[in-house]
Amino acid sequence: MDLFVTKRLQRLAGEDGSGGPGLKRHLGPFGLIALGIGMIVGAGLFSLTGIAAAENAGPAVTLSFLVAALGCAFAGMCYSELATMIPVAGSAYTYAYATLGEIVAWIIGWDLVLEYAVGASAVAVSWSRYALSLLHDLGIDFPARLAAGPFETVTLAGGGAVAGSVNLPAIFVIVALSLLLMRGIRESSGVNNAIVIVKLAIVAIFIAVGVSYIDPRNYTPFIPANAGAFGVYGWSGVLRGAGVIFFAYIGFDAVSTAAQETKDPQRTLPIGILGSLAVCTVLYIAFALVLTGMVNYAAMKGDAAPVATAIDRTPYPWLQLLIKFGIVCGFTSVILVALLGQSRIAFSMAEDGLLPRFFARIHPRWRTPWCANLAFMVFGGLLAGFVPISLLAHMTSIGTLLAFVIVCAGVLALRRTRPDLPRPYRTPFVPLVPILGILTCATMMYSLGPENWWRLIVWLAIGLAIYFGYGRARSRARRHAAAE
Ligand code: ALA
Repeated sequence: MDLFVTKRLQRLAGEDGSGGPGLKRHLGPFGLIALGIGMIVGAGLFSLTGIAAAENAGPAVTLSFLVAALGCAFAGMCYSELATMIPVAGSAYTYAYATLGEIVAWIIGWDLVLEYAVGASAVAVSWSRYALSLLHDLGIDFPARLAAGPFETVTLAGGGAVAGSVNLPAIFVIVALSLLLMRGIRESSGVNNAIVIVKLAIVAIFIAVGVSYIDPRNYTPFIPANAGAFGVYGWSGVLRGAGVIFFAYIGFDAVSTAAQETKDPQRTLPIGILGSLAVCTVLYIAFALVLTGMVNYAAMKGDAAPVATAIDRTPYPWLQLLIKFGIVCGFTSVILVALLGQSRIAFSMAEDGLLPRFFARIHPRWRTPWCANLAFMVFGGLLAGFVPISLLAHMTSIGTLLAFVIVCAGVLALRRTRPDLPRPYRTPFVPLVPILGILTCATMMYSLGPENWWRLIVWLAIGLAIYFGYGRARSRARRHAAAE
């Protein structure tokens, strides 16, 4: 029964027990929305929109974006309710600790490593591809063998293919951004804000230029007839497409990991979470409409760079370079915010005694959890250097979806068990919204297939072994409960 010990809400107020300096409250509403957008717009939008249109939904990939946005909006409202009730670092992990008990909190904290650390590595591998292609356009070539992991083959510019050995650029970006994060939240958020402006401008330029080159014939049929199997066009294709492009929305919840570095968190957190999601939904739908209007969905099959093909339909070839630059920038901030979120979650888990104290060490001058940054620099660097992207990306999606399901369940549980607690933001239409959130996210998990369910189960089993071998005996909440 004591597996379900909960952490007192009063004790969640941010005391770290060390008497040392705490995290620095620097972020306002703009910084928070930028943090959300920083992690949202990235590999998903630029790489998956074309794939989902060609293979699953046709021009109706726009509807897939709408479906995935709905699922995220349900979860986003639940996140906002919990984030304002419990405005401390740690996101869903902390909420679960206060509501559903220690073992659930540990599971979700361990699961969030998939969203944040593994997600950062997945995007670092994409970053490496685009960064090298940009360098190639500028006349600089990097040895292909050193730009792909050992399970991947690289197609050379002049034809032919070589087996990869290690993805050095992907390791480089993880190391560089981890060092920046150690340096300070103000520096990190400043870099993020600048990148977000660049990447939003470039998505807006693509939409503004592309809209004049839309051929309306590309929209018919808008929902191509189902090709006989679930997920290949038709309405089931729209659903499968939503599962595929869900990756593009991951990140709005990263806002909640920075609660302890936010000014006036109870007012600004919902603005950050729901604001970044709203901005990205509008942009994504416009982007998908323009892309599928410029290039016929059938022609996108097997095209690794449909955005480049779309730009070829305009008389502005220089846009290619600009967009590639925007994409590299975009990916950089996704990795930055993901690594930021990961270190804050590990920080909270270490504060609670579930991870070694090392992860909770705060640098006396920079006031960042620099040891946690260091640890995930090594972990994320190894994954990015050696593991294939498809495995990393699917694990990111399934891990995030599980976190969303638990957060929605947390809102339902807490409304019942602690109706008295002040809720500066209330999820509307409870229990409908959390239930719809659980159903939509569970459906998307289902659509990722048994291979990924098994991987998730193995990952969680490793986590439980660590909990029973280490954290359970050292938990602060358990010790407090015993003392009382
Ligand atoms: N949403 C992020 C991306 O698409 C993870 O890169």
